[in-house]
Amino acid sequence: MPKPYYITTAIDYTNAPPHIGHAYEKVLADVMARFQRLNGREVFFLTGVDQHGQKVKKKADEAGISPQEFVDQISGKFIALWEKLGVQYDGWAATTAEPHKKVVRAMLQKLLEAGQLYKQPYSGFYSERQEQFLTDKERGPDGNFGEEWGVVVEYQEENWYFKLSDHVDWLREFIKTHPDFIFPSFRVNDVLNALENSVGQDLCISRPSKRMSWGIPLPFDENYVNYVWFDALTNYISFAGYLAEEVGNTGLPKFENVWPADAHVIGKDILRPAHAIYWPIMLHALGFTDEQMPKLIVHGWWNIKGQKMSKTLGNVVDPNEVADVYTPEALRYYLMRDMATGYDADLSEERIQIAYNELAKGLGNLLNRALNMSQKYRSGALSTGGGYDDEINQALRQTVAAAPAAYVEEMNKWAIHNGIAEAWKIVTHANQFVDLTQPFKLAKDPEQAARLDSVLYHLAEALAHVSILLSPIMPEACKKLQAQLGWTPAEGFLVTDLAWGLLKEGHQHGQPVPLFPRIEFGEAEAK
Ligand code: ME8
Ligand code: MG
Repeated sequence: MPKPYYITTAIDYTNAPPHIGHAYEKVLADVMARFQRLNGREVFFLTGVDQHGQKVKKKADEAGISPQEFVDQISGKFIALWEKLGVQYDGWAATTAEPHKKVVRAMLQKLLEAGQLYKQPYSGFYSERQEQFLTDKERGPDGNFGEEWGVVVEYQEENWYFKLSDHVDWLREFIKTHPDFIFPSFRVNDVLNALENSVGQDLCISRPSKRMSWGIPLPFDENYVNYVWFDALTNYISFAGYLAEEVGNTGLPKFENVWPADAHVIGKDILRPAHAIYWPIMLHALGFTDEQMPKLIVHGWWNIKGQKMSKTLGNVVDPNEVADVYTPEALRYYLMRDMATGYDADLSEERIQIAYNELAKGLGNLLNRALNMSQKYRSGALSTGGGYDDEINQALRQTVAAAPAAYVEEMNKWAIHNGIAEAWKIVTHANQFVDLTQPFKLAKDPEQAARLDSVLYHLAEALAHVSILLSPIMPEACKKLQAQLGWTPAEGFLVTDLAWGLLKEGHQHGQPVPLFPRIEFGEAEAK
């Protein structure tokens, strides 16, 4: 038995409600989790929220509530969104949860004892927006820090440091010898360059609690709290059972069973230095071996008309609103179909409408036509047609038979959009099949009865196959499709169980109901 497929996402900052980028990442991970299960793997899917930090404290103060109340409110919006979008996780990583704090403190204590932490005075420029100290490398050509850093303040204080520089040689070698550490591989060079820039620099891991109180106190120096990344990255192990026995955590997976993570699904902005440099070095310093390093799946950015989404531009898209207009299932489909994992894509209402129409006219219409005709001519009872066969039928069966393997190959490569395209070949072919066979004409000729049976059967069978292949992307719509077909796949049905003959002779299907009802779109809003 292979170990469970352990998939995580970035944990979302709870300083603001979720936006469409957050939704994309969680849907992507959910699709992969569902696909892995469909492909026979046990899965542990962890996601959650990143609740500490200066920004949270500030916003809570402004709202006149405690930071905990503030993050609980915002976290509730994330949880409600995942419920709405069908994002089904097995573990919830909220960084203010007690079990997490215990692991962070125990981990820091270990690093201290291993001689990996030291205290030192520091004076430097600090970006409040990015919550990090800046170096001269961050200065623009004019010598100033660019506006992406927000307010930059000069601080002088003592802080705790992690000996990052001790491990740079190891990491360089590790990255070079483990080409699958980072997907897609075109991002590797960028990481190696960033690594060279960090040679000789250690990582500041603390903030004095007098200026930053909303964090986890260092176990060995209570005047300081842990800096955001050490707290945030640790969620991947703390909620997977790391040090559970030592700190008394219960109800978590057995760490040895799930680690290393098969996929940390993150956006390109947090690849370096956080996930590709700090994180493997933290693990290495804690004694994790090369074989115990996780894998990074780095997705691109949803832009709007080529521009970043931002509050300043006022172009932040609320996934709730899109889901309310187009249905959660169509939003999942759109997000998966319009972005190639790793690359950027442009979000547009027009493209969302195109995706919806594709579902309505391609898949919904096919289901409707197939079941309507079958109800009309055969009262919904399927028959294989007593062995009737011809080249037109054979061709459709071939397309249906070829799809699963091609689909699995694409999905395993994180090319979800190509996986969809492989499944969609069945939809396209089945629609052509109706045009070619013209069942409404066959119905008028009693001598064509067996052929008509076989045609209706082929359509229903093709739809049953599609409902399995698309189920990771649109779980609810596929369940509805199956309900109309009157077919419930057996518990634990796998993609490898797909074979012609899912529907038996005499199978009775239900009444067709529009799967993607017509939506009267207004003018696509120029967002
Ligand atoms: O970075 N398109 O949180 P976050 C696609 N708490 N993905 C996007 C996006 C966009 N327009 N905007 C954001 C954090 N994301 C930290 C992570 S992990 C230990 C800590 C992605 O709420 C972003 O790349 O700013 C990241 O992966 C995730 O949303 C959370 O971003
Ligand atoms: Mg961010």
